[in-house]
Formats: sequence, structure tokens, C-alpha cells
Amino acid sequence: MKNFVFYNPVKIVFGVDSFFKTGEYINQIGRKHLIVIGKGSVKKNGLLERLQQILDKNNSEYFILEGVKPNPVIEKVKEGIELAQENGIDSIIAFGGGSVIDTAKAISAGFYYKNDPWDLFEKNVNIQKALPIMVILTVSATGSEFNPISVVQNDSLKHKIRFQSEKIFPKISILDPVLTTTLPANYTAFASVDIISHVVEGYFTSEDFNTPIQDGFVETIVKTVINSTYKVLNDPDNVEERANIMWAAALALSGITTSGIGKFRFENHLIEHALSAIYDIPHGAGLSIVIPAWMKVNKKRLSKKFSLFGKNVFGIEGNEEYVVDETINTLESFFDKIKSPTRLSSYNITDFEEIKKNVIECAPSRNLKIDYEYISEILEFMR
Ligand code: NZQ
Ligand code: ZN
Repeated sequence: MKNFVFYNPVKIVFGVDSFFKTGEYINQIGRKHLIVIGKGSVKKNGLLERLQQILDKNNSEYFILEGVKPNPVIEKVKEGIELAQENGIDSIIAFGGGSVIDTAKAISAGFYYKNDPWDLFEKNVNIQKALPIMVILTVSATGSEFNPISVVQNDSLKHKIRFQSEKIFPKISILDPVLTTTLPANYTAFASVDIISHVVEGYFTSEDFNTPIQDGFVETIVKTVINSTYKVLNDPDNVEERANIMWAAALALSGITTSGIGKFRFENHLIEHALSAIYDIPHGAGLSIVIPAWMKVNKKRLSKKFSLFGKNVFGIEGNEEYVVDETINTLESFFDKIKSPTRLSSYNITDFEEIKKNVIECAPSRNLKIDYEYISEILEFMR
């Protein structure tokens, strides 16, 4: 195992009806909040009104920033910073999924940052201060509720990149699986692809191979997500399985599965973010197109980890070459079965040059270098 520092200060309040405990915790982040929400799901299902009742009962003040879109943009962050500064807010409630949380994180850092908040992403500025954040999660997917990462898009550059800082860890995350039962089937599927991607990216490309604890975490998370996803797609109100997915999502990108594995490469995320930035594809849907293609191109180089995964997760037996091929097929057919796309043709995308350029341009933001030939080969399998 390689040396590592693990730090995760997020207080998780987990379980059925934990949403109603918001009032017990809210004063720990502040008294005057900016509530950040998406395009309207929390209004439609009555959750925003319930939150307002909880805050009113607590005599908390609040303002609302609404309209965060999936694949969130820096303009919304700027609007949120202005609203927060004009009203002297002291804390943020991110009420939604990854897009809302990431916008809230960028506002929390941008609130104290004197210059253009896009700098935070482009230069990964070492910030000293950010507003405290409470997350009330409505989609189990990104793990943003339990990590220090924000991913935002700059539409004029068509760059979708990360900003990372210990200061933007949420202070408290309320994880109530009941809130995720209204998530439509397509986003439920995309969310599960994302969770799986967060653990396999490190597992497949790790520098160190003697990491049985991390590997075991990954294998269990993937098996759980696959089993529970089939169940919730058949029965969206299955709160027990929504809970399993919720905890899997939080753990997946919390640092637990990557601590000690040494260097690793998040190439599938790099490529997917180009798809989201250019074509506004949902993150998980883009990943189910990228991952099988990326595996096909890397199957010789990474055969040891691909076959270990196939044996331990899918129970595939045989010689290494066979196990690797069957592993890729089995994962791809899982994506097909849950109706997450596996080809760019699903979005009628046939011109790959802009995607290639974007991937090559954004690679340094993840300390990666991507060759034109390599990305071209992967895109051919995504066709
Ligand atoms: O906008 P509303 O109306 O709320 O609708 C949302 C949105 O359309 C809907 N939704 C959310 N909760 C719902 C619901 N609909 C019904 N019932 C509910 N309970 O779901 C749609 C997707 O929401 P979004 O927040 O975009 O989904 P997700 O959580 O998958 O977040 C994706 C974003 O996070 C980034 C992705 O790139 C993408 O921009 N990521 C963030 C990461 C991080 N911060 O660590 C890491 C990830 O790899 C990822 O890059
Ligand atoms: Zn992801």
C-alpha cells in the first residue's frame, strides 16, 4: 500500500426521515441561508415548502437561488454569489443533486474570492475561506455530498472542469433515501452508472496492486449498486434499496476507495465531461458510453485488474483473455439493461473532432496527457 493522508470532516445524517431532522442541525451552519435548488423538482414534489416550514419554525432567514441546470454553469454561480453578497447570507443549503451541490460549493468559495469565480476552476486557487454548506440530497450519484469537489462548466470555453478544496467540504449532509424515490427511471440509471464509475476508475488504474481493503470496498459497492438498481427500477419506492444506493454513492467518491492505491487516472471522467460540455449529455449517460469503449482500448494494458474485477464482481471464470472480454461485455450489458446509452449514435453524434480537442485541452486539469491517436481509438468504439 502507498502512503496517504485521509481527511473527511462531513457530518452525515443518514436514514429514512432524516430530512425532518434538518431543524436540529441547521443552526450549526448559520442563521441566514441561501437555499440553492435545481429546475423545480423540489418545488413540484412539495419538499421546498416543507424545508421552508422547518426553517420558519426555527426563525431562520433564507433566500432562494433556483434554476440550477444539470451540467451546471458558471453564470449561475455568479448569480448566486451576487445574491448571497447583497443579502449578507452566512451559509448555504444545497437542496438537490450533484449539480446543485457543486453550484453551492462554488458560491461558497466565490463569496470570499475577490476575482472571477471561474479562476477557482481554471487555476484551482488555494482558497482560505468558504461559507459553510448543508446538503440535503435528492439524487444518490456524484458523492459531492461527501467530498471537497465542485464540477462546473464554462459555456463560452466549453470546458467542464473541477475545483477542489478542503474548505468546500459540506459541513453536514442529510441523506434521506425517501427523497430519492421520485427520481425518474432514466436518472436513477445514470446515477448508478456514475457511482460505479467513481470506484472503477481508481480500481482499474491503481499504481499499487496489494490493496485488498480498497479492492473489497470497490467490488462490494459495484455488486450492491447493480443489485439495488434492478430492484429500484422495478419498484421506485423501495426505500431500503434506495438507502443502499445512497450510502454506496456517498462512499464511492469519498476518498476511502482511493486512499493507498497510489496514482490513478480518471480518464473516463475527462472524456465524459467533454460530452457533457459540448452536447449537454447527462453525466451518467455519457459515462455508460465512455466506459465500455475505454475498457476495450485498455484491455491488454489493464488485463490484471479487469480480470480480478470480472472474477470477484461477476463470478466469471476462465483464462485471463476470456475473463477480460466477458467482464467488459457484462458491464456493458448491465448498462443496456438499465437503459443507459452505450453509443454516441443514441445522441446522433457523428463528428468527433471537437470532442478530441476538448479532451486534449482539459487533460492537464486532471494531471493527464492524452494523445490524439489514443482518444481517436476510444471514440471509434463509442461510435
Ligand atoms: O433540476 P431539478 O428539477 O431538481 O431536476 C433534477 C435534474 O433534472 C432531477 N432530480 C434531482 N432530484 C430529484 C430529481 N427529480 C425528481 N426527484 C428527485 N428527487 O434529476 C436531474 C439530475 O440532477 P443532477 O443534480 O444534475 O444529477 P447528479 O446528482 O447526477 O449530478 C450531476 C452533476 O454532478 C457532476 C456531474 O458532472 C454533473 O454536472 N459531478 C460532480 C462530482 C463531484 N462534485 O464530486 C463528481 C462526479 O463525477 C460528477 O462529475
Ligand atoms: Zn462522476
